[in-house]
Parts: sequence; C-alpha cells; structure tokens
Amino acid sequence: MTQQPARGRFITLEGGEGAGKSTNLDYIHERLQAAGVPLLLTREPGGTPLAEKIRTLLLDPDNRDMASDTELLLMFAARAQHLQERILPALEEGTWVLCDRFTDATYAYQGGGRGVDPGRIRVQEDWVQRGFQPDLTILFDVPVEIGMQRAGARGELDRFEQEQATFFQRVRSAYLQRAREHPGRFRVIDAGRGLAEVQQQLDAVIAELLDGRGHLPGARGNG
Ligand code: TMP
Repeated sequence: MTQQPARGRFITLEGGEGAGKSTNLDYIHERLQAAGVPLLLTREPGGTPLAEKIRTLLLDPDNRDMASDTELLLMFAARAQHLQERILPALEEGTWVLCDRFTDATYAYQGGGRGVDPGRIRVQEDWVQRGFQPDLTILFDVPVEIGMQRAGARGELDRFEQEQATFFQRVRSAYLQRAREHPGRFRVIDAGRGLAEVQQQLDAVIAELLDGRGHLPGARGNG
C-alpha cells in the first residue's frame, strides 16, 4: 500500500513597501531548504502565467483610473488561478509553499489602503478560498517613512508604490490589526532593525516551523 505524503505547509510573507520581504524570503528559503523541506516559492498577485498577466494589469501605473472594486476582483481572479494551478496541487503532494503575499495583503491594501469594506473582501475570500487559510503568516512591520525610503531607492515605482504616505499608514495599521485578530497564525517581525537582528527574529520563527511540523496553530480554516 502506498502512503499519502503529509500535506505541505502554507506560509505567507506580508508587509508594506520596503519592509525587506524579498531579502528575507531568500533567507527563509535557504534555511528551509537546508533542513530538507521540499519547497515552492511563489508570489501574489501572480505565480502562474495567467495570474502574472493579471499582475501586470494591476501594477501598471498607466491604469491609474482602475476602480477599487476592479482592483479587488482582479486580485481574487489572480488568486483563484494561483490556488488551483499551483498552491493546492503543491501542498497536496507534500511540498511546502512559501508565498510572497496573500489575502492579508488584500485586507491591508484594498481594505485599509483603498477603504473597501472588509465584509466585501470576506465574500470574495470565502468564494475563492472556501475556508482555506495560511498555516503561518510572517508580517514584516516597518515604519512607513523607512519603508518608503527603501522602496523609493529601487527606481521606477509601480501603481501601488506611487501612493502617498497616508495610504501606507492605513496599510500598516490594517496589517497590524489582522495580526491582532489572528494571533495564532501571525508572527510579527520588527523589520525596522538591521538585517542581522531581523534574521535572528526569523530564526526563532523558522525553528518553530521545523519543530512544530505536526502541531502549528492556525491550520487551515481557523487561525
Ligand atoms: P509586491 O510589490 O510585494 O510584489 O506586491 C505587489 C503589490 O500588490 C504591492 O504593492 C501590494 C499589492 N497587493 C495588493 O494590493 N493586494 C493584494 O491582495 C496583493 C497580493 C498585493
């Protein structure tokens, strides 16, 4: 009799602009790989050829007249494709999935940033995810001024990066609010610190992930 592999873990990375997600994603990736964890690295919006096309629409600064409902629906359209085509099949075969942003970003950016009623977001979430939730969410929290400075230094700004500081203040507050509402699932990293200190904070989360393979809180549907 062949044994089914254990389902993989779904880990999401969140944070405002310039929170250092990319650098730290590489770090987490390396640490999990070194521990022999089969891993898929992906991102939202995007992660499949079709969802990446939707990402291009969403980030294109020329689409400055995009309505907030259009933005919300495109985020979930991309997510539906990503879930079906990549995330769920990978988890099913026992691969862990490390995803740069997921639905908490929708609550933060479309909810906090754009002011879309969270109830409207929840309807989409229920429809597309049917109760599916990350096992663990790492939130890189950084003061808005520091994040904007870091992001600004990267050159050309996309449609979101062009927003004002007040938008990113609302994004940050909404993320922190999500973390308070789901303490079992969230780990908040103080990303305003130097890289060595951030990595030290991450080491504790990674150790917890590896130790707690069987009993992490927040497993799908609650958290
Ligand atoms: P990135 O810069 O981290 O790749 O993300 C692309 C942008 O998309 C970022 O500015 C945040 C935004 N975003 C949303 O507004 N809502 C979402 O649901 C997701 C996943 C991303």
